[in-house]
Amino acid sequence: MNEDKKQPLPEAEKQDVKSPKPKFVKTEKTPVEPCDPEALIEVQHLTKSFGELTVLDDISEKIMQGEKVAVIGPSGSGKSTFLRCLNVLEDPTDGYVFFEGNNLCDLRVDINVQRRRMGMVFQQFNLFNNMNVLKNITLAPVHIGLQELKRAKRKNLGIKIGNLFRGKEKKKALVPIETSAKKIREEAKANAMRLLERIGLADKASVFPSTLSGGQRQRIAIVRALAMNPKVMLFDEPTSALDPEMVGEVLELIKELADEGMTMVIVTHEMGFAREVATRVMFMDGGKIVEQGPPSEIFGAPKNERLKDFLSKVL
Ligand SMILES: Nc1ncnc2c1ncn2[C@@H]1O[C@H](COP(=O)(O)OP(=O)(O)OP(=O)(O)O)[C@@H](O)[C@H]1O
Ligand SMILES: [Mg+2]
Repeated sequence: MNEDKKQPLPEAEKQDVKSPKPKFVKTEKTPVEPCDPEALIEVQHLTKSFGELTVLDDISEKIMQGEKVAVIGPSGSGKSTFLRCLNVLEDPTDGYVFFEGNNLCDLRVDINVQRRRMGMVFQQFNLFNNMNVLKNITLAPVHIGLQELKRAKRKNLGIKIGNLFRGKEKKKALVPIETSAKKIREEAKANAMRLLERIGLADKASVFPSTLSGGQRQRIAIVRALAMNPKVMLFDEPTSALDPEMVGEVLELIKELADEGMTMVIVTHEMGFAREVATRVMFMDGGKIVEQGPPSEIFGAPKNERLKDFLSKVL
């Protein structure tokens, strides 16, 4: 946790100050309660408003490692906003989001470092159309690898300069650097190829996304997120932009990830999939989680009237 006010401000906060985006500011309404160290993600009093419209209304919830949470509910109930608040793509108006115990709403936490561990897959794939498939997958890991290398080299340069002025006994040791730019690129490429082989698309490595089917593009968007070694995958209706015959291949891949133990939160209209894969189903309505439980209860014995009504329309 990062509540120690005496800590100096790290780079992240300085950058945030410059950012034109309005940042979340802690209010007295939501004192920080200790977060559950067992939870992978925890939200406390999560509230999001767009002007007068309250889209998320004081939600407190935990997601544990290994859980597969399906979020269902009518259009406009706040499902996407909830998902986007989990990795703070959307700044909460109020409340807190913790990921592995780090308060993502605390300006001293480097949000970019945390967000890397949360893979996000959107309805519209969001691949870079001007890059081939391989580049799409390796772009972020290479960028981050090179950034880290640069940081380590810069640190060593500082130590070396400092050492010029230090006595023999007081010289500081350099940070060991076991990689190189070439190695980072090669490793990212090998990893991307391994992931492409896994989904049977290794032969598409050098083609551009526009030449692929929707199902292929979405599977590539999924492995692109996996290339960052995420701790959790967030899916926002990953199959709703697909032609019906391509839905199966994408759901199959998500199901495989679930079976391998990946923690996931998936907003979906695929009730059969939610029933089969989810360990917990959340029903959202009017910005609240109105009812939740194991799929057998949510689908088999719903209690809430609005959930019953929703299921009667979608099942
Ligand atoms: N950037 C925004 N600015 C203003 N209003 C927004 C914004 N994003 C979402 N909303 C509003 O917030 C409400 C919830 O939107 P959200 O996208 O979270 O719903 P949803 O449950 O994902 O719906 P759907 O099933 O249609 O995807 C909607 O009324 C929407 O119009
Ligand atoms: Mg949505």
